[in-house]
Amino acid sequence: MSKQSIGIFDSGVGGTSIWKEIHALMPNENTIYLADSANAPYGPKGKDAIIDLSIKNTEYLLNKNCKLIVVACNTATTNAIDYLRANYNVSFIGIEPAIKPAALQTKTNAVGILATKGTLSSELFSKTTNLFASHIKVIEQIADGIVELIESGNLYSDEMKSLLKIYLEPMIKADIDYLVLGCTHYPYLIPTLLELLPKHVKIIDSGEAVARQTKVVLEQHGLLNTQITKTKSQFFTNGNLEVMTSLLGKNFIVDYLHF
Ligand code: DGL
Repeated sequence: MSKQSIGIFDSGVGGTSIWKEIHALMPNENTIYLADSANAPYGPKGKDAIIDLSIKNTEYLLNKNCKLIVVACNTATTNAIDYLRANYNVSFIGIEPAIKPAALQTKTNAVGILATKGTLSSELFSKTTNLFASHIKVIEQIADGIVELIESGNLYSDEMKSLLKIYLEPMIKADIDYLVLGCTHYPYLIPTLLELLPKHVKIIDSGEAVARQTKVVLEQHGLLNTQITKTKSQFFTNGNLEVMTSLLGKNFIVDYLHF
């Protein structure tokens, strides 16, 4: 069973940032990545719609015999992972904004968070924020339009820069010293964010932690692939093949999926 693949899904290409962390930490693992780009963005959709799409993605990966599922999407995790865990007999690893480490480390008592509407309005996010960050100022920003620009191949556009400038302004005014990335698409923005943020602001994302947690859970279940074999990394999208290839690099083949 350890040779079966880790299944990974996101509303689109963003979760490839998580796939990269998983692949770097566990190069022996076979992986299948599903980008549901035709339905992106998930952020503005309601909880029920996000659960329905997450069910569809999960069943696709389970039909491919995946041994564990990584929900590489904050919006799907914060809205649907409880449902998935209650209804499928497989382990799920999720991702949610790293508000706790930011709240623990801030010196200015102000942290910023960029995420989707679906994540910021979720119960899970308010619970985590109340639990760990009630003593500090949390400047929340719904980053409308960012996922769409990445999905359409406009990562390094002027429009992206202008939107980010608008979103960061209230955070900079509030003197944040940590910016939490609450969406798996956003690690691709880091070069632009570093240009726009004051030098002392640190960026936190949860990608590496998700990869570590995936490894721990595989080990616990005796599912880690310890044999050195040639591994397979498969990528499927119902969106734009070139956009996904440009984020992964030319060594990886992306297949189109009618989904
Ligand atoms: N990558 C998803 C996330 O982490 C993007 C959300 C969306 O599709 O709006 O939240």
